[in-house]
Amino acid sequence: IISGRIGKVKLNADDAYPFEVSENGIQLFANNENGIIYGFETLLQLLKADGNGYYFTNCRIEDEPRFPWRGLMIDVSRHFYPVNVIKRNIDAMLATKMNVLHLHLSEDQGFRIESKVFPKLHEKGSDGLYFTQNQMKEIIEYARLRGIRVVPEFDMPSHTTSWFLGYPKLSSLDTVYSVERTWGIQDPAMNPANEYTYQFLDKFIGEMAELFPDEYFHIGGDENNGIHWKKNKDIQKYMKENEIKDKHELQTKFNQRILKILIKYNKKMVGWDEILQPNMPNNIVIQSWRGKEAMIEAAKKGYNAILSNGYYIDLFWDTERHYLNDPIIKDANLNSDVEKNILGGEVTSWAEFTTVENVDSRIWPRTAAIAERFWSPKYVKDVDDMYRRLETVSFHLEELGLTHIKNREMGMRRLTNNEDVNSLRNLVNVVEPIENYTRHRRGEKKQYLQQSPLTRVVDISYSDAPIARKIRKATDEYIKKYSSETTEKSSLYFTNNPKQYLINELNKLSNNHKKLELIIANSPVSKEIKPLSENISKVAKIGLETIDHLESNKKFSQKKEQELLKILTDFKKPIAELEIRIVSAVEKLVMVASGE
Ligand code: ACM
Repeated sequence: IISGRIGKVKLNADDAYPFEVSENGIQLFANNENGIIYGFETLLQLLKADGNGYYFTNCRIEDEPRFPWRGLMIDVSRHFYPVNVIKRNIDAMLATKMNVLHLHLSEDQGFRIESKVFPKLHEKGSDGLYFTQNQMKEIIEYARLRGIRVVPEFDMPSHTTSWFLGYPKLSSLDTVYSVERTWGIQDPAMNPANEYTYQFLDKFIGEMAELFPDEYFHIGGDENNGIHWKKNKDIQKYMKENEIKDKHELQTKFNQRILKILIKYNKKMVGWDEILQPNMPNNIVIQSWRGKEAMIEAAKKGYNAILSNGYYIDLFWDTERHYLNDPIIKDANLNSDVEKNILGGEVTSWAEFTTVENVDSRIWPRTAAIAERFWSPKYVKDVDDMYRRLETVSFHLEELGLTHIKNREMGMRRLTNNEDVNSLRNLVNVVEPIENYTRHRRGEKKQYLQQSPLTRVVDISYSDAPIARKIRKATDEYIKKYSSETTEKSSLYFTNNPKQYLINELNKLSNNHKKLELIIANSPVSKEIKPLSENISKVAKIGLETIDHLESNKKFSQKKEQELLKILTDFKKPIAELEIRIVSAVEKLVMVASGE
């Protein structure tokens, strides 16, 4: 039963879908197609099977989203992904009831959309890797049919090197530009003191406003370091004449001009939190990324805001940390009118270390947990239950065509020269890339370029390794019996015998190095993990020895404890940009076995 608006995807659609499953059939109510689509997605999740066949359990469901803006930003500029990659990510978004695909379409490292008005943008700025307008229309339509809006971002005035190859007059410094190949904040920026810039952007935004039907248009606005503005005499003169005291005021002037252009084309401005400056009208949307302060300030001042701080999926964080990051911050004490200004949030997938091959595994399944944060009531925050359900969702996503599971297996076969991957898998199961932007900062030594092959073990490893997490969890459960505080029985979803689980996993790992060593000996790119593999086996051996001690009611001496803890601390040092994620569990075991 459907009523209301047909065929348009818009912010603040009524996405509720009350439905009922009974002996008489299934009744689904909705005010628009989104509700119908979401109802079917939920129904799919409820399908069960047993020896007698497939069935639904009788139920009544009242479900609607907590936030209207449930976004995923994909950076297609630092690395480019073709249409099929975007489409399968749209499928995953629908399965997790997300509704905004934000495409970061231009960067220092690439300009990724065809412009018919200014063809040198994509011809010179993309290495031939860009979406044609027809392809983009196909993506937008594919998304629309799944209730998903597509918001384009053209980051300006900075992050714009790729524009300047074809149109150097837009830039602030008269020099020869080439596509940037390194990561990090770059100096090039558009010239805000030249009328040419605004004439150009008027035509360009006019073209893109027609291509992208959504009413929101993202202008970036982040990380302008002002260096090239300082080097340009005309810009300095313009600032003096107009009494502009610093780069922030100058950028606000620039943004005010861009806003006029957007309004002319019936678009609403979205920008990173740097655009929140005095003298910007509050009919713009602030995307908070550097912290939560901008979001709170924006919401209080009557701006709409979306949160991305805490949802940076490229930081290799555990799912739990993202999941518990709520867009409504308790301590901010916002009243309900102010809370309404917070439209929701966006996961951001920046692409320094993602390729067509591993991008799905960097985004999924962790993003599904954030999608739940955007959809479900605030009180839904049982982490163990989230992880239990996330496993099911992950397999569902694979069935939809996402490659986060199968490409890891493929990567492991490549790393082992198609030999047995079991021992490599055992290692991959307990390591994770070093968190935050530590890998990026190594780029300052120019270790990483845009063209660097991302085919190392770190590139196929988990951001939140499930087996490592289960080992940590089983350890916590196992040592409870040595604590006076609780006597609760184990309630882990993956085992009802944490001790046996630990012993099995640690046994596997303690013998692993012998096997893996032989395989990586013939794999040049895997050689770097040899010491890591050795350390994992040593950690596991310490774990087993400690459990043995505990089980025979023996205690480590203080000297022995210190010795073991020191060794374990050494094993925390990253190797090949990877960290062993079971060391903390073994440390706990050692401390308990020492009477702590
Ligand atoms: C950003 O991460 N520079 C928005």
